[in-house]
Parts: sequence; structure tokens; C-alpha cells
Amino acid sequence: MNHNTADENLPWIEKYRPTNLDEVYGQTETVQTVRKFAQEGRIPHLLFYGPPGSGKTSTIIALARELYGKNYRNMVLELNASDDRGINVVRDQIKNFASTRQIFSSGFKLIILDEADAMTNTAQNALRRVIEKYTKNTRFCILANYAHKLNPALLSRCTRFRFSPLSTKAIEERVAVVVKKENLKLSHDAKAGLLKLSEGDMRKALNVLQACTAALDSKDDEITVEMVYECVGAPSPRSIEVVLDSIIKNDWSNAYSTMTKIRKTEGLALIDLLSGFVEILERYELKPKTRMDILEGLGDIEYGISKGGSERIQSTAVIGCIKSALEHEA
Ligand SMILES: Nc1ncnc2c1ncn2[C@@H]1O[C@H](COP(=O)(O)OP(=O)(O)OP(=O)(O)O)[C@@H](O)[C@H]1O
Ligand SMILES: [Mg+2]
Repeated sequence: MNHNTADENLPWIEKYRPTNLDEVYGQTETVQTVRKFAQEGRIPHLLFYGPPGSGKTSTIIALARELYGKNYRNMVLELNASDDRGINVVRDQIKNFASTRQIFSSGFKLIILDEADAMTNTAQNALRRVIEKYTKNTRFCILANYAHKLNPALLSRCTRFRFSPLSTKAIEERVAVVVKKENLKLSHDAKAGLLKLSEGDMRKALNVLQACTAALDSKDDEITVEMVYECVGAPSPRSIEVVLDSIIKNDWSNAYSTMTKIRKTEGLALIDLLSGFVEILERYELKPKTRMDILEGLGDIEYGISKGGSERIQSTAVIGCIKSALEHEA
């Protein structure tokens, strides 16, 4: 690769972590509300919950940066609640942090508690009392994937914000920024594939994009849709079509060799092919009965694989399942 900056080795999810709230994409309402809290200087305890890579950590860090600027280090404590050293360690850290005097500035200190839904119920109860004890000069921001795993008494002390999976548009806009900054060439199909495979997860989008870039011979080459699928380890729609087509049109042994060949060249597990089939069959016009037979058959095969069944037998079962369902369709 031909450029040589200090950030060169940084993962892009860090290099492109939002530095302020304007760089948080797609969570407009949440961003507006927390910014308003900040401007009015009355921040409640916060709970951000939602799926991975939707911007929870990024949002609270960006907010804290806007609030504290250079004072960030003195005013913010980031803790991982799932730390296996347990609630006692967390409690001590909080106590130390909350009770040291603020020399440089006034206002609330902020404690960010990541992965709070991994805490045991006992630990959550302890945390609830810690929060109460230090409310005078600290605010907590609790981050979690699932709100239902949190104790109701803890929930009721926080203002809740749900982070939804990011919209395609939000990811597209952020990816465009990165593509421009990194001088990448991303084909139209590659972009579409990237957005689809990201499933609302910006972390995934950036990681896949970076992996594709690393796989290029030269940074001037274009990133293709095949590379995107390969980096995710998902079969490309094109190869799924080839295999499916062969199962439908060719005899059994030809279908089998096509399938094996594609699996080898793309390094795919049988299980990857299965989800590819299910997705592509959604777009086929089939009689309801045929569709049910295929889905039921593929479901059984997936179960078989998960139980450690032989790949060869399961592969042939896939062909048998699709062929026989389609024969009945005719
Ligand atoms: N809304 C967003 N706008 C811009 N970048 C984002 C956004 N969400 C995520 N990212 C990017 O993805 C990376 C991971 O995001 P973040 O750590 O905020 O996710 P999270 O919601 O806290 O996920 P987890 O539940 O796994 O902790 C960030 O470093 C950032 O680069
Ligand atoms: Mg996070």
C-alpha cells in the first residue's frame, strides 16, 4: 500500500469514530435530544440500548467530548460492566472517581458503563445503590444491547434511548465519507452488497470495507462485489444462482460437482450455501407447497449440519431436497 501516515494501522472503526455529535449518522432524534440536555446543563442518567454497531458508544463519547473538551480525561470514566472482576471492583472505581474533587471545572462527572446487560441481577442491584449514592455530582450512561436484561429498578432511574439498526442511507452516507477520504474505488454493485450485508451495523460496514481495501493489489484498483462477499464470508448471489441453476437443470452428479467446485473456490461452508438458497428462493415464484417442502427440507439439513452430520451426505441431501420439491411442482 502506498501511503504512510500515522493512522495507517488504525482500524477504520477507530479512525472514523465520530469526534462530535454531527458525525453520528442516522440517530437524529437521539442526538438532538441529548444535545438539548447538554445545552440546558441538565443531563439525566442515560440508558442507550440497541444492536451492535449502531452508535451507542460513539454517541456518548461524542457527547462527552462536546461537554468537556480538553477536560475529558478528568471528567469521564469508562467502565466495562461485564468485567469479570465483579461489581466490587466497579464500585471501588466509581467511588474513587466520583469522590475526587474537580479541580479544573465544575459540573457533573460522567460515568459510562458499557455492557451493563451482562451484569448479574445482584450486581445490578448493587449498581442501582451506587448510582443513587453519587447522583449529587455524577451522571451515569448505561450502554446495553438489550433493555429487557436490565433490572426494572435500574431502568426506572434512567432516561432511555433506543438505538435502531442504522438505515441503509445512514451507512451509505458514512461509507461515502470514508471512500472519499481513503480515495477508494467502490463499484456500484459492491456498494449495494456492502450496505446489504452490513445489516444496519456500521462497524461491520467499515470493517468489511477495510478488509476489501487490504485485499487489493493496488489501492487504485476497484473494490468489486465479489470481494465484498468474500470478505464477509458470504456466498455471492451470482454463485448461489449458478449452483441452484445446476441443481434444477442438470443431473444429480453434475449438480454435485458444480456445488463442490464453487464451495472450494469460494471457501464456503455448506451452511453458507443454505442461507444463500433461502434468500434467493424468496425471489422465485413457487407453489406454496413447493416452497414449504424446500424450506422444511433445508431446515432439517441445517439441523443435521449443526449436529455434526457428514458434509457429503448433507450436500447430497440439499440437491435431493430441491430437486424432488421442484419435480412435484412440475
Ligand atoms: N451512527 C453512527 N455514525 C457514525 N459512525 C458510527 C455510527 N455507529 C457506529 N459507527 C462506527 O462504528 C463503530 C462502532 O460503533 P459503536 O462503538 O458506537 O457501536 P455500539 O452501538 O456501541 O455497538 P456495541 O453494542 O457493539 O457496543 C464506531 O467506531 C464508528 O466508527
Ligand atoms: Mg458500544
